[in-house]
Amino acid sequence: MCPPTYFDVVYEINPWMDLGVPVDASRALAQWEHLRATYEAHGHRVDVIDPVPGLPDMVYAANGGVVVGGRALAARFTYPERRPEGAAYERWLAAAGAGITSLGQATEQNEGEGDLLLAGDVMLAGTGFRTSRAAHAEVAALFGLEVVTLELVDPRYYHLDTALAVLDGGTSPATIAYLREAFSPASQAELAERYPDAVLATPEDAAVLGLNVVSDGRHVFLTDRATGLHDRLRERGFEPVGVDLSELLKGGGSVKCCTLELRPATVPSTTTTTAVLDEEARA
Ligand code: ARG
Repeated sequence: MCPPTYFDVVYEINPWMDLGVPVDASRALAQWEHLRATYEAHGHRVDVIDPVPGLPDMVYAANGGVVVGGRALAARFTYPERRPEGAAYERWLAAAGAGITSLGQATEQNEGEGDLLLAGDVMLAGTGFRTSRAAHAEVAALFGLEVVTLELVDPRYYHLDTALAVLDGGTSPATIAYLREAFSPASQAELAERYPDAVLATPEDAAVLGLNVVSDGRHVFLTDRATGLHDRLRERGFEPVGVDLSELLKGGGSVKCCTLELRPATVPSTTTTTAVLDEEARA
């Protein structure tokens, strides 16, 4: 995660950003701190990258890259305003430790986990607004994963993580939620065929960025505003954990945008389980 120390809306590169709506910087920081504390209270470790002055969108760490099995790929951003973030995240990933064993060199335009969502053993990959199809091929080659290209058609849902949520990558197929209307007809058909049991989100869920979630397979961290989605998640056996990120919404992001998931090379599963249980006992 990256603290929103320099967060502001000073340019408009998605329909959520409005130069006429002021950002409350201290409120943004308090909301972000609360999200971080919520992860920690649920047994998750949070690493923090230093924010860089002049890069107001750096708080959206999910866009910094993607890490699978200890292999990392840093972002190459679409808009010049965000391009320097790529180098900052690349430096962090190279130095992080955190189970990261190699760093690939991106040559194509990709916005990290904004558009690249690991769903079990396939990578769901968004395109249409930011990440290019050429990047999807690059990701397939680097990670040795099947990449499923999904075309986004609604500018409000410009990143895949605003239109689709991976709830559980451990089931086969993965359990996902998505907004049908955000995808091209061909991609809607692909999703329906691969994920017949998906949770179908409503336009109301999506309009508060309710699909922008982080899930550990049990707890689903998401905006407290997506109350309909909370209900549907509960029906499916998940525990929604609602947080207020109203200030970060002004930049067009929510929970997932603020979170880059680190998937280390090999973690002995017993160690992870113990750590999680210890944390839960303390919480
Ligand atoms: N203002 C940022 C942009 O438009 C928001 C990024 C949100 N991040 C995400 N993972 N969807 O690029």
